[in-house]
Amino acid sequence: GVGEDLVLVSNRQPYRHRYERDDGGDREEIAVDCPTGGLTAGLDPVMQRLDGTWVAWGDGDADFAVADEDDRVTVPPEDPEYTLQRVSLSESQVRGYYDGYANQALWPLCHTDTCRVRFEAEHWERYREVNERFADAVVDHAESGGTVWFQDYHFALAPRLVRAREPDAFLMQFYHIPWPAPDVFAICPQRSALLEGLLGNDLLGFHLPRYGARFMECVDEHLDGATVDWTGGEVHYDGGVTTVRAFPLGVDADEIRQHAEDDGVFWTRFRHAHGIDEDVTVALGVDRLDYTKGIPPRLEMLEHLFERRPDLRGEFTYVQKASETRERIPAYQELRAEVEDAVDRLNERYGTDDWQPVVYTTEMFDYPDLCSLYRHSDLGLVSPLRDGMNLVAKEYVAAQVEDDGVLLLSRLAGAYEELGEGAVELDPYDPVAGAEAIERALAMDEWERRSRMRALRHRVHDGDLAHWLDDVLETAGTVRETRREAP
Ligand code: G6P
Repeated sequence: GVGEDLVLVSNRQPYRHRYERDDGGDREEIAVDCPTGGLTAGLDPVMQRLDGTWVAWGDGDADFAVADEDDRVTVPPEDPEYTLQRVSLSESQVRGYYDGYANQALWPLCHTDTCRVRFEAEHWERYREVNERFADAVVDHAESGGTVWFQDYHFALAPRLVRAREPDAFLMQFYHIPWPAPDVFAICPQRSALLEGLLGNDLLGFHLPRYGARFMECVDEHLDGATVDWTGGEVHYDGGVTTVRAFPLGVDADEIRQHAEDDGVFWTRFRHAHGIDEDVTVALGVDRLDYTKGIPPRLEMLEHLFERRPDLRGEFTYVQKASETRERIPAYQELRAEVEDAVDRLNERYGTDDWQPVVYTTEMFDYPDLCSLYRHSDLGLVSPLRDGMNLVAKEYVAAQVEDDGVLLLSRLAGAYEELGEGAVELDPYDPVAGAEAIERALAMDEWERRSRMRALRHRVHDGDLAHWLDDVLETAGTVRETRREAP
């Protein structure tokens, strides 16, 4: 299997060091935080177990002040178990690689939002450069015959670069976003370089079989010299073999359930702070402020709902927990302004002195508090225009410890494959139908609500994060064995 010498590579780091500043803006002391929940939080325990090295962008302003001369720190800070190798990026590298190629070319391209795609020569140059920097860092740590695990679309080129220098390493990658159809991928000027880079991996994972199938179709159509073995799910290229597999990512369902059960005063405090009466029905949305998440159409659904159902005014509140993300990119700034305007409009139009139709907050919550918010929300609204998986849908389900919430889920979220049966379908492209769906959810009798939620909880529990990890690592072990046996 995957041994002691695992090198994990991701753009986001599991721990970030930052200077805390006093009122005058002077640096005080250094604090540690965990930048994003989800994946980094899920992989941290694995790394603690395996004692490997995690290579990531050091984006905290105190990251390099606490690292050694080779930019390494041991983490978790309070009880060190493994090495975090930070890669420092210059401002122009961050702009070109992260704000540029990763998030303005690959992100919209893979979400089939071709109108937002920007291909700029400078961005591509920096993306290549940063992939080389990461490849260098990986090679410094990889043991001969060790395993390297790349995460996501930030590193499409690094696998082939590492392969060239570490021919015996086992290279794998999990791509956390969708893979587009060949006709969409066709617009990308760098299409063959991206495919070639990813085919440096021995194993390439996607959330869904259809993303993997599209990847292979793209290889078939856009990369000369590659052979696709459709039945084996393999691509042969340049003397190497890449196995393509689906591993639907899950959440730590037990942890979420526990947090939801332990639920303290947070919910009461939250309700009071936002003037939500106890008997008001609450619907919840939790999203990064990303245009793929379908927040404007969701607000439009609510507008239709309040139009059709004046009786719900004063009785129903939608809570939108939004987190800022990729703030330097114009499309994200525009989306944020659009969402804030739509919220204001709804509140002005329908709100009364003692009731607000939409409670909008960009507050950051601790994970236990977020779980409590999920638990107490009667409806979970998840309406992406397109999403690789969407873990919010799974978190909402896992937190329904009383089996009494209703999940409304976009048919265009990857999670719909697993949860579509128990959820109420949302179509982000049809807000009128969306309003009807919300009405249906509100009218659902208790028996139906509970039986749907029970079924959903089983699914989320069976396909949890630990299951995903076992599946990925076991498949990696098998693929690695067959490669060894091959002549
Ligand atoms: C998506 C990506 C992740 C990324 C996350 C947050 O889920 O698949 O790789 O970390 O968004 O975005 P950010 O740009 O803040 O890392």
